[in-house]
Order: sequence, then structure tokens, then C-alpha cells
Amino acid sequence: MHTIDSLLANNRAFVRAQLAHDAAFFEHLAEGQHPDFLWIGCSDSRVSPNLLTGTGPGEMFVHRNIANLVVPTDMNLLAVLQYAVEVLQVNHVIVCGHHGCGGVKAALGGHSHGLVDHWLHAVRETEQFHHARLAALDDETRLRHLVELNVIEQVHNLGKTSIVQRAWAARRRPFIHGWVFDIGTGGIDPLTRMISNDEELLEACKFHRAGLGPAAAAPARPPQAQPAAQAGHASPAPRAGVAP
Ligand code: CO
Repeated sequence: MHTIDSLLANNRAFVRAQLAHDAAFFEHLAEGQHPDFLWIGCSDSRVSPNLLTGTGPGEMFVHRNIANLVVPTDMNLLAVLQYAVEVLQVNHVIVCGHHGCGGVKAALGGHSHGLVDHWLHAVRETEQFHHARLAALDDETRLRHLVELNVIEQVHNLGKTSIVQRAWAARRRPFIHGWVFDIGTGGIDPLTRMISNDEELLEACKFHRAGLGPAAAAPARPPQAQPAAQAGHASPAPRAGVAP
């Protein structure tokens, strides 16, 4: 177990180790950042983006919140996204959920957790939409599916932001990606292909619906129209074309 003092001692050891390896390490780091990736992940202490992906300081711009949500009215997320896409010009934006996510689990249960319940509203909406299929699954499988559905939902929200839509129109970047991390194995599974236009975004949603197994055989309804002019503001989530 670490203490506050041990964190600072660890920092001093880190500085010594880095300088021993590369005497100019911090001078170079101070010159600026040119990350190629924006990571949007969960605040969960077990999901450490640099550690999981073998990236170091300066290589990944990071935004984290409970349950890795892309809420189109979240100024914090939008500011990070705008800066990453338009100023840093990252080529990849990754939404990474994780199995065993406490935020998603809380949204599945009927218990109140205080203020965080408001934040998790979007996850409950996803659960409600897919309730008929999810309710037929055992608890563990249901949580795993909802974690993955939530990632796809957030990928869709991300792709529909005016920031990403403008960037796609101007330079066909960034690619956006939906991933899920399995804490039990340490592995990351991509849930989507690389997405850099509306067609690929829609395809990613179809891909996920197909991946839901026997429950995906439920009757389909046509995908909802997504007018580009309204992109980025409270646009509906993918709402996978299966009746709730
Ligand atoms: Co989580």
C-alpha cells in the first residue's frame, strides 16, 4: 500500500531513473507534445491508458470520466476533444470501456449512488433501449454486453460531434475506435474497425448488433436518419436497429 510520502519518493526515484537512462529526457519533454492519440476512458484506477498501451509521456492525450461517456453537452470532454483534434491534430481517438465497469454496473442496478446517478443516465438509457435482449442474459453476460453497447454508443456520440464531423470533412481524420479492456486478462479487444466517416460509423453499429449473439435475431427496424446539419448536438445514439 502506498502512502502520500511514498508517492513523492517514487517520483524522485522516477526522475533519477529517467535521467540515468536519458540525461535530456525532461528537456525534450518540456519542448512540447505531439501525441497522435486521444484516449477517452473510464476513471477506474485499474484502467491506466499508458500502461495498457505501452505509451509514454507525450504520446497520448487523455480524457477520463466514470463509464467513459461522450456526453455532447460535457464542456470538459468537448474542450479536450476540440484541442486534441483541431490543435494537436491527433489522428486517432479511442473510446475504451472495460469489463467489470462499476459505472455500468451501477446503471444496471436499482440502487441509488447519489450524484453519480445523474452522470450515469446515458448508460441507463442504453440499458433501457436494449432491455428486452439484456434481460434474457445472466448477470455477468448482461454486464459484459452493456459495457460493449455503451462503448458503441459513445463512439456514435463522438462521431456525431460537430468537432469530429468538421475534421472528417476537412481532412478525413481522426479515425475513431471503440475498444474494450478486459481487466481479468489484461487484453484490449477492438469492437469497431477504424471509423472516419458516417458510413463507417453506421457500419460499426451494425457490426456490434451482429455481435450480440442469438439475441440479435430479434426483428430489426430501419436505422434512424442522422442529418449531418444537426451533428454534434444531442443527436440520438446509435439505437441499434432492434426493437426494445
Ligand atoms: Co469503469
